[in-house]
Amino acid sequence: MKQMQGTSGPKKVTTKVISLMKREKTPIACLTAYDYLTARLLDQSGVDIILVGDSLGMVVQGHDTTLPVTLDEMIYHAKAVVRGVDRAMVIVDMPFMSYQANDEEGFRNAGRIMKETGAGGVKFEGGERIARLVEMTVRAGIPVMGHLGLTPQSIHQFGGYTPRGTTTEEAKQILRDAKVLEEAGAFCIVLEKIPAQLAAKITKLLSIPTIGIGAGVHCDGQILVVSDMLGLYEDFHPRFVRRYAHLAETIRTSVAQYVHDVKERTFPNEKESY
Ligand code: KIV
Repeated sequence: MKQMQGTSGPKKVTTKVISLMKREKTPIACLTAYDYLTARLLDQSGVDIILVGDSLGMVVQGHDTTLPVTLDEMIYHAKAVVRGVDRAMVIVDMPFMSYQANDEEGFRNAGRIMKETGAGGVKFEGGERIARLVEMTVRAGIPVMGHLGLTPQSIHQFGGYTPRGTTTEEAKQILRDAKVLEEAGAFCIVLEKIPAQLAAKITKLLSIPTIGIGAGVHCDGQILVVSDMLGLYEDFHPRFVRRYAHLAETIRTSVAQYVHDVKERTFPNEKESY
């Protein structure tokens, strides 16, 4: 099969390219990855930004939330992802409690991710609360992706996975947070599970790109968890996930066939033997 090129060709994706894509109204295609092999396939398929998301706590490690993921685990996965990527920009999630206690600790941990993984930037969840941390990080030369709306690290405070920004008050706060993140120097902002109209308003207001996940079509780009969109993770299926494949079913069928072949002694055959 012919490999598809990314929207902006084979050129390495940087913050400059991402910013240009907003100005030129070129949609930014983002996905998560947690390992070398997947990252290589996404990169070969033209994904612009690969996020090593702390969603790995759920889809790789099997936890109920992203909260148990550690900084060392993020670094381990990010190193593998970076090895698989030539073109895309790799961003690494700052896991829960790696930046919440104080800005200095968050700043140092962001630096650790950059030094040890070779990634192109980090992502923090939050708005006004983390403005100083974002400023310090950006000033040190580390690109920062913001994350607003349904921020999974605050899931216990929210009390569930219902959309955010549905009240006037909360919508205003998300808008304020987005503006603050832009002023603090973030190069783009993920908007998760907020009304499409609110995401459209933020996208129009900001000069930096918005990346939507359950935030409608008017964002400058879209992101999904790769295991969701490939139909590998079946534990839950929010309506914003479009399934582009059903790999869980493909794997079950293939493995069942292999088990059958081994039991029936039809594998390996002569050609597969020495
Ligand atoms: O951890 C993650 O995968 C994320 C995306 C859902 C944006 O934060």
